[in-house]
Amino acid sequence: MYLTAIVSLAIALAPAVVSAKGKVGFALGTKMPNGECKFQPDYEADFDTILAASGSKLVRGYAASDCDAAKWILPAAKKKGFQVMLGVWPDTPESFALDKKALTTYVPQYKEQVYGITVGSESLYRGNFTDLELLDKIQDIKQALPYAKVGTADSWNVIRDGKADAIIRAGVDLMLVNAFAFWQGATIENATAVYFDDLMQAFGHIQTVAGGVDSAPELWNGETGWPTTGGTNFKAAEAGTENAKHFYQKGFCAAIDWNVNSFYFEAFDEPWKPLSVGDDGFSADETHWGAMTADRNSKFSLKC
Ligand SMILES: *[C@@H]1O[C@H](CO)[C@@H](O)[C@H](O)[C@H]1NC(C)=O
Ligand SMILES: *[C@@H]1O[C@H](CO)[C@@H](O)[C@H](O)[C@H]1NC(C)=O
Repeated sequence: MYLTAIVSLAIALAPAVVSAKGKVGFALGTKMPNGECKFQPDYEADFDTILAASGSKLVRGYAASDCDAAKWILPAAKKKGFQVMLGVWPDTPESFALDKKALTTYVPQYKEQVYGITVGSESLYRGNFTDLELLDKIQDIKQALPYAKVGTADSWNVIRDGKADAIIRAGVDLMLVNAFAFWQGATIENATAVYFDDLMQAFGHIQTVAGGVDSAPELWNGETGWPTTGGTNFKAAEAGTENAKHFYQKGFCAAIDWNVNSFYFEAFDEPWKPLSVGDDGFSADETHWGAMTADRNSKFSLKC
């Protein structure tokens, strides 16, 4: 299955560029371990650590106005030669307006530092919008910042099931596909196969709806990862630093080798985060997903 999955994934990608490596990025939070907002020097220290540990100069955020993120992260990125995938949280009119304001204020001053903009992170999955409703918000941001690449991020199965088709057909610049073998309860032995299979199904669907590889948006794995020791297990998926290392090196890096651009979730542990409780009452620790500890030490090698 592993081989079938990677061979199919290779076919889903543009054959001419399959020998190139994908880009590596990290999801990065806006808060310090104690829950206070980060400022420019904190982002600079984050960037120094990420570059030294992984060689990557790319991070991803979710809401540009949260903790004044755009205001502080963009000058830090300029100083350190990083780029940022900025986010808009469209789910409420208030959060949309605040994030749009942050982007229109800071992006024009730091165009070179902005890799792109995602409008929504799994907001289709949560049922906040239909694809047409979200498309309207994506186009609103694109109109405000026409020179930026703009798109959205959602779960692989939502995309495979056609719930983002109007967005794909409209020709947005970016589609980020989130895929967590962990949240599918995969064993660590089968995690890479599940991960590749998810990506293949979502990328394949996008390329079909777009009418081919060349007319498809720029594709990314928007999030993947595995919790380290201290995290909560989920079905057959066991949290643990050895498992996270295995998934990073055999799954995430393998996708990079197959020319998939990917963001690892996430750069650093976020100990301030509360337990998350699902609809089914299942509660999960979300503070141990970092590739590195909250005090910026690597848990394992992050070089792909
Ligand atoms: C929509 O978004 C808000 C804020 O992110 C969230 O609390 C809510 O549960 C979401 N779902 C629906 C169906 O509105
Ligand atoms: C491993 O993952 C693949 C791809 O999702 C799936 O088809 C297969 O049944 C899985 N194998 C096991 C042993 O769980």
